[in-house]
Amino acid sequence: MEVVVLPTYEEMSKAAAAVVADVLNAKPNAVLGMATGSTPLGLYQELVRMHRAGHLDFAQVTTFNLDEYVGLPTTNSQSYHYFMHENFFKHVNIAPGNIYIPSGTTSNYQAFCTWYEKRIEECGGIDVQILGIGSDGHIAFNEPGSSLSSRTRLKTLARPTIEDNARFFERAEDVPIYAITMGVGTILEAETLVLAANGANKADAVAQMVEGPVTSMITASALQLHPSAKVFLDEAAAGQLKMRDYYDWVMKKKPDAPQT
Ligand code: PGA
Repeated sequence: MEVVVLPTYEEMSKAAAAVVADVLNAKPNAVLGMATGSTPLGLYQELVRMHRAGHLDFAQVTTFNLDEYVGLPTTNSQSYHYFMHENFFKHVNIAPGNIYIPSGTTSNYQAFCTWYEKRIEECGGIDVQILGIGSDGHIAFNEPGSSLSSRTRLKTLARPTIEDNARFFERAEDVPIYAITMGVGTILEAETLVLAANGANKADAVAQMVEGPVTSMITASALQLHPSAKVFLDEAAAGQLKMRDYYDWVMKKKPDAPQT
């Protein structure tokens, strides 16, 4: 796992976006794994900026989102369909037919999840997966206790997640209780993982993800099993890391390391 700590949210977002941009520039028809939440907003703004400057082309890109709330139509402003359209898709030249987001309104969740997994495979797998982390250590909606080999499925949200997300809804009771989410096993199959986290409220979960044991109680800790996981943090989110000096040392020495 590569741990990169940067002074601000803006710098963290730019560094994470640079990894996605590198993948895209090397492979114009890359498959991107998208995440929602407040964390990746800066990353998306940076990708949009690069696109507007003529440095990034999404014409051949395919995307798969991690998750969606069950029961919210795509027109609901809290649905992840709506979020992705408003914050990213409408600002870049991606083909609408190449956008995949789990359905929160299907009449057959099991069949939909099987189809979603199959589509990812048919598209050649995810080249780079963007991730956030919940304060309970989840990635996507893989709540504590989720199998580390889980696949896309329906999940009951944990109370801390419902409470965290209540800030986006008018009333706490409006927060959906169920979601459809890629599994930890699905996520681990992406070629590269880019996880971003900022703020002191993530510091404990980040420390457990990076330095704690691999456990289904902190599903983000499964990133330790991935050969190419990059974690981008601001100072506050890095606040509880014990090996912080080493991570900074590695980054400082990286330019001089043999490249081949
Ligand atoms: P956030 O959500 O970016 O809104 O903090 C992260 C997550 O729950 O995965």
